[in-house]
Amino acid sequence: MNRLPQSRLILSLFSLAIASCATQEPNNAFVSDADSVPMASNADTSTLIPIIDYKERFLPVIARNGMVVGPEQLAAEVGAQILRQGGNAIDAAVATGFALAVTYPRAGNLAGGGFMLIHLADDDRETLIDYRETAPAAASRDMFLDDEGNLDKQREYFSLQSAGVPGTVAGMLYALEKYGTLTREQALAPAIALARDGIPVSYSLFFEISASAQNLRKNPAAERQFFQPDGSAYAVGDIWRQPDLAWTLSEISEEGINGFYGGGVAQLITTEMESGGGLITAQDLADYRVVERQPVRGTYKDFEIVSTPPPSSGGVHIVQMLNILEGYDLQAMGHNSAAYVHHLTESMKLAYADRSLYLADPDFVDVPVTQLVDKAYAEQQRQRIDSNVATPSVDIAPGQLLGSESTETTHYSVADRFGNVVSNTYTLNFSFGSNIVVPGTGMLLNNEMADFASSPGSANAFGLVQGEANKIEPGKRPLSSMSPTIVFRAGEPWLATGSPGGSVIISTVLQTTLNAMVFDMNIATAAAEPRMHHQWMPDVLKMEEGFSLDTVRLLQAMGQNVDMASRTSGRTNSIMLDEGWLYGSSDTRRPGGWVAGY
Ligand code: GLY
Repeated sequence: MNRLPQSRLILSLFSLAIASCATQEPNNAFVSDADSVPMASNADTSTLIPIIDYKERFLPVIARNGMVVGPEQLAAEVGAQILRQGGNAIDAAVATGFALAVTYPRAGNLAGGGFMLIHLADDDRETLIDYRETAPAAASRDMFLDDEGNLDKQREYFSLQSAGVPGTVAGMLYALEKYGTLTREQALAPAIALARDGIPVSYSLFFEISASAQNLRKNPAAERQFFQPDGSAYAVGDIWRQPDLAWTLSEISEEGINGFYGGGVAQLITTEMESGGGLITAQDLADYRVVERQPVRGTYKDFEIVSTPPPSSGGVHIVQMLNILEGYDLQAMGHNSAAYVHHLTESMKLAYADRSLYLADPDFVDVPVTQLVDKAYAEQQRQRIDSNVATPSVDIAPGQLLGSESTETTHYSVADRFGNVVSNTYTLNFSFGSNIVVPGTGMLLNNEMADFASSPGSANAFGLVQGEANKIEPGKRPLSSMSPTIVFRAGEPWLATGSPGGSVIISTVLQTTLNAMVFDMNIATAAAEPRMHHQWMPDVLKMEEGFSLDTVRLLQAMGQNVDMASRTSGRTNSIMLDEGWLYGSSDTRRPGGWVAGY
């Protein structure tokens, strides 16, 4: 990040006002007649000044002490308040995670799963908490196939059988107990209050519920949860109360792990399962375990990348692609030039091809992580790339491909004044998961079973053949793309980021980190720049709006099958940590994101 000499400091009442209240919507910084306006939060930091650079079209929110960047305002503020009161980043991440279950129901959750990557400042180490869902004991390889061997998508996506055994509550409580400082009751109190007292329906919440209304109304408990007693929709500004969810959260607060995986909540889950052919039993719930894993690590020039290991494919392939790309002068190619996009595309084809063959739950399948993130392997892979001509995907590797994944995951990042950093991605899979609420709990069930290869060996709805390694097996975790990531510079955490988007998560995190590492963009610009995505099969290069048509034509001339994507690619929530300052950005590709800092 560029720095201005002290002589250019312009300290105004205006900048002080911003610095003392860093909580703002992204990209709403003021413009004055100065080129760059440094800001100071107090006298003792006057030698260390963050820069607002007016040459950049997108600006991050700045804070000094602590920050939460997430998909929704109220939950981000819950986390920031905990930081203000002296809690650490893990406390804030857990409280934010529980609050999002109330305020951001499309992806925030209790009955889903995810991955939490933590940098622990005191120990100077990272750890990864895997709270991914597991297949119930009664699940089997062909459970979603009908008598003719065809995939029954309704059952796979929107039935009680769609649900894996939830991991979120176990994951959050594990993180809190092992690395937090708050009591369970303290961490859960804000979420309970939001559910009990109600939240005003925001424009984005209204939009999200409206967009899924048809599916939600198919399930009577979901209809009761998300609509008025007379069946009409809540209007923007109405207060939406969730007493059943408040009760579920209170059970967790009072009883801990047993308040969800045993007791009344578990009873309601299993009763619902028994009522409609669901597979999750009391034993499945009691057997659920969080796994604490070593993150995946790699380097890109002077940066170190720490990310998510299997059963997510994210970290492995981010590192693999960075290794391949390290061999090119990306800066000389120019950001988002045809040459740059071409080399990213060819790297993605190679990585996603490997993903389909090798990646799955490491407790069931030997995943060759070390080989995949090896620099020598990247060198070998790089030889397969023609810098001028696209290699058709069919020529890259034959084999078994994976299915498509949901775009409705969510990510948030947290940094505290003690130097701890949390990068957390969790999900119900689809927007509102299976769209089924467990009666009496106010809680949506995930449909994460759809992340398994439900029909190994045959084409799915997207014309893809799915891989055997990720077949359904009892107790197994479905392959994920979730990629909470922390990049280190000179040994210090420098960038925490992540995104929703299924397989698009991986390419989104890759481009966000490259924008910052190679092109020196501030984190708001790094988030805003147009992104592209190629996942090997289908052989299509999806490009967001914002690329020049000249670039598109050059890529087509190289043989790339360009599709100007009808939707955007991912949605990052990131924090950059630089010389004691925190720079936050919530990607504006989705409404309602929030940076809360102090
Ligand atoms: N369900 C999306 C993912 O795990 O990547």
